[in-house]
Amino acid sequence: MATQKKTSGKTGNKSVVNAAQKDTAKDAQQQATEPTLHQQVGRGSHETQRFGEIVSRPHGLDTKVAKASVTALNQVLADTITLRDMYKKHHWQVVGPTFNQLHLMYDKHFEGQAALVDVIAERIQVLGGISLAMAADIAEETKIPRPPRGREPAAVQLSRLIDAHTLIIKEARELAEKASDAGDSGTDDLLVSDVLRTNELQVWFLSEHLVAASPV
Ligand SMILES: [Fe+2]
Repeated sequence: MATQKKTSGKTGNKSVVNAAQKDTAKDAQQQATEPTLHQQVGRGSHETQRFGEIVSRPHGLDTKVAKASVTALNQVLADTITLRDMYKKHHWQVVGPTFNQLHLMYDKHFEGQAALVDVIAERIQVLGGISLAMAADIAEETKIPRPPRGREPAAVQLSRLIDAHTLIIKEARELAEKASDAGDSGTDDLLVSDVLRTNELQVWFLSEHLVAASPV
C-alpha cells in the first residue's frame, strides 16, 4: 500500500514537472511571437540612455567636444521646434487683407523649419547624444517667449516671428563659432549652412512686410 502510494506520488510529481515544462515552452513560444505591450507601466520600462548622457560614436571627436555640441544643438532644436510650431499657429490664425499671402508664406517657412528640426536632431544622435523631442520638454527648454493662445493682428504675428528668428540667428552664430573653435566642423557647418542661412532668409521675407508702404 505504502509502495503504491509512493509510486503514484512519483507519477504525480512527474506529471506536474511535465506540465510545468510545457507551460515554460508555451511561454517562450508566446514571448517569441506576441508583442509585449504596456511596457511603460511594467518592469520593462527603463531608459537605455539617459538624457544628457553621451555614448561613444566613431566620429573621431573628443567626448567633451561632442557633449558641448549636443548641449548647444539641443538648445537650437528647442527654439527651432518652437518657431516651427509658431508658424503653424500663425498660418491658421492670420486675418486681414494679406491673409492669402501670409497664410501661404507661413506654411512655406514652416516646412523649412521642419526640415531644420530633423537635421539638428539627427546631428545630436550622430554625436552620441539624445535629442529633445516632446512638446512638454521643448516648452521647458526654449528661450522663445510663449505666445498667447488667442489670435493676434498680422503685424504682431510678423513681429513675434521676427524676434524668434533673431534669437535663433544670434544663438546659431555664437554656437557655430564655439563648435569651430573646438574642432567640430560638422556642427559648425550645420549651424551656418542650414540654421543660420535659412533663418536669415526667412526673417528677410518677414521684415519686408513691416516696411511702411509709400505711394509712388
Ligand atoms: Fe494649411
